[in-house]
Formats: sequence, C-alpha cells, structure tokens
Amino acid sequence: MKTFSRLLFPSLLIGKKIEDDLSDVLKWAYSLRDTDPAGAKISNEGGWQSHPCLREEGSGPLCELLTREVGEVIAEQMPLNPGYGLGIESAWVNISGDGAFNWEHDHPLCFYSGVLYLRAPEGCGDIRFMAGGLPSTAGVISDECRRMYNIYGSWTVTPRAGLLLLFPADLRHRVEVNRSGEDRVSVAFNLALDIG
Ligand SMILES: [Fe+2]
Repeated sequence: MKTFSRLLFPSLLIGKKIEDDLSDVLKWAYSLRDTDPAGAKISNEGGWQSHPCLREEGSGPLCELLTREVGEVIAEQMPLNPGYGLGIESAWVNISGDGAFNWEHDHPLCFYSGVLYLRAPEGCGDIRFMAGGLPSTAGVISDECRRMYNIYGSWTVTPRAGLLLLFPADLRHRVEVNRSGEDRVSVAFNLALDIG
C-alpha cells in the first residue's frame, strides 16, 4: 500500500504588510488615550487598552483602511462562499510601553480576529499563537517533518509597523513582554459574519 498524509484541521493565519503611511492613525491612537487615560482592562498587563473605538471621533480613516485591507486579505487568502461576508464588529487600540504584555486569551463569539501594528520597535514583544491540542508528538517527530507540517506547540510572529494579521478567533494567543524601551501600538479587532 502506498503511504499518504493529510494535514487535518489547520488554523489559518493570514495577513499582509500594509505600505500606507500610518502616522495619522498612530496620532489618533494616542489622542484616544489622552481622552480616556484609564482605558479598559482585558488581557493587557501594564499597557493601555481603549474601549471599543470604531464609533469614536476620528475613527473614519482606520475603519476605511481596515475594511479595505482585511477585505483584500480574505479575498486572496481565504475566499468565502457566495452570500457570506465578514464585517469589522469591534476594534480597540493597544498602547503597550516597556514591560507590558498580554496574557494568553482568545476572542469568544467571533469568527475571525486580527491585529494591525501601527508601531513596533525591535524587541517590542512577539505575538505567540498556541497549539490547540497537547503537542505530545512535537519532541519525537523529526525536525524536517515538523517544519513541513508546522507541528509545534506554539508559533510566534514578530510585529512590524504595517503588519496586518488575521487568525481564527478561538486560536489562543498571548503577547510577549515589550523589552524595546518604547511603545508598541496596535489596533486589535474582531470580524463577524455578515450574511447578505
Ligand atoms: Fe487578542
């Protein structure tokens, strides 16, 4: 019998590097913090997180940018069946100074989630996605095979300004400690199904 393999139940991480000038959105993010210094407290430790910001004054350029870029990534990397769409249901700003991090979490009751980095200095903290099951095979299978199928206990992505990531909302993740000495600034968001 010929041997075979099939990759089961993958978690699809998709994204792109946005080349637009994001300085106005970055300025707007800091202005949000100025108007609400207490912010919200969810998964962040040591940083500032806004309340849902899509209806805040000045959010227009961010909404436009996210709608356009998220739409392009989904169309190219994860096309949907006719009659289905994804809309940005909520978004919030994270400003994480030196030493700040985010505890492991997921985004319940949503379809997909994402993050757009507005500012990401060297060493500002990778985002780490956690394997769903117990990766009991990870230490036994050859390195070559693990590389081929991404058989790992977790997977990190190093943020860069302009990097947009989309991932399943139930994929658990955390953000490592910012050791850059500067702020890491991002916009996180949830996508909900829009059934036309
Ligand atoms: Fe998150």
